[in-house]
Amino acid sequence: TSTAATSVSISGDISSQLHSGYSHPLARSWQAERQLTKSMLIYPLFVSDQDDEEVLIPSLPNQHRRGLNKLVPFLEPLVAKGLRSVILFGVPLKPGMKDALGTAADDPEGPVIRSIQLLRQRFPSLYIVADVCLCEYTSHGHCGILREDGSLNNQCSVDRISDVALAYARAGAHCVAPSDMNDGRIRAIKLKLIDEGIAHSVTLMSYAAKFSGCLYGPFRDAAGSVPSFGDRRCYQLPPGGRGLARRAIVRDINEGADIIMVKPAGQYLDIISDAKELGRDLPIAAYQVSGEFAMIHAGAKAGVFDLRAMAFESTEGILRAGATIVVSYFAPEFLDWLSD
Ligand code: PBG
Ligand code: ZN
Repeated sequence: TSTAATSVSISGDISSQLHSGYSHPLARSWQAERQLTKSMLIYPLFVSDQDDEEVLIPSLPNQHRRGLNKLVPFLEPLVAKGLRSVILFGVPLKPGMKDALGTAADDPEGPVIRSIQLLRQRFPSLYIVADVCLCEYTSHGHCGILREDGSLNNQCSVDRISDVALAYARAGAHCVAPSDMNDGRIRAIKLKLIDEGIAHSVTLMSYAAKFSGCLYGPFRDAAGSVPSFGDRRCYQLPPGGRGLARRAIVRDINEGADIIMVKPAGQYLDIISDAKELGRDLPIAAYQVSGEFAMIHAGAKAGVFDLRAMAFESTEGILRAGATIVVSYFAPEFLDWLSD
């Protein structure tokens, strides 16, 4: 009978033998299509118009809102550890800065344009992304210009947002990233960049598939961009809208986007995978947003898991789904963890 057993196992199916491929830690890492590297990370920065301010954002663990004078000292050690890119969000705190048109968004003396100029000069190898939106600058907190009845005026919004994008590009941003979700803004921005003669050197990253929901709360605390009435459901995508996201991704590729972003990331891995398929010739970015980051911190604090282990697991899931760029509040930690 022992002969029979041996012959069964030899003639039987040996594809069940998988452990051999990942018994060694290095072989385990080879199982991933993409491994996390420092150059995949973009770190979000909140820059206020209070030049000497450095204030902790309570709902966004370890993250601060900083004024211009605090940026360079903060970034110096991170750049030395291998930080390659930041995305800038302006936060106007001075009274009277907000109005119906978001006029302060492209104020040449405002925090975004001044920090683009400063960072370009002080960190020549740092890739500067400027988030483009009006919600931090409008009195009503919405991502565009409104009609009398409170609905979004898409054409006025696109005209204004493309002007703001152009101003950031002129100031020296390597990449402009409209996060407003107005229809047609990618095309409008691209045309203005072409007209200005700078389209060849400015990357256009579209927040193409940006879903509405409850995961942006800490960001809105940080940026002071909570809408004063209503919500963003008429322009951000409904969480179940996979087909709509696919249409938005295809549209933005056709309008001239260089990079497609999906946001949030962890709850939308199928959308990242769709973006990779539809945009197989483009880099795909995913934004692990403030609410995801805060959740991971809360879970770690409650003893559910180790913070570092979950930061890696969540980010590796995002890469597995198809992202090649990750906007992450964990970027400073990853610079240390990826050096260990
Ligand atoms: C602005 C913008 C938001 C985020 C990025 N750009 C907020 C929003 O749409 O309400 C969210 C980022 C985060 O939550 O970390 N349009
Ligand atoms: Zn906005």
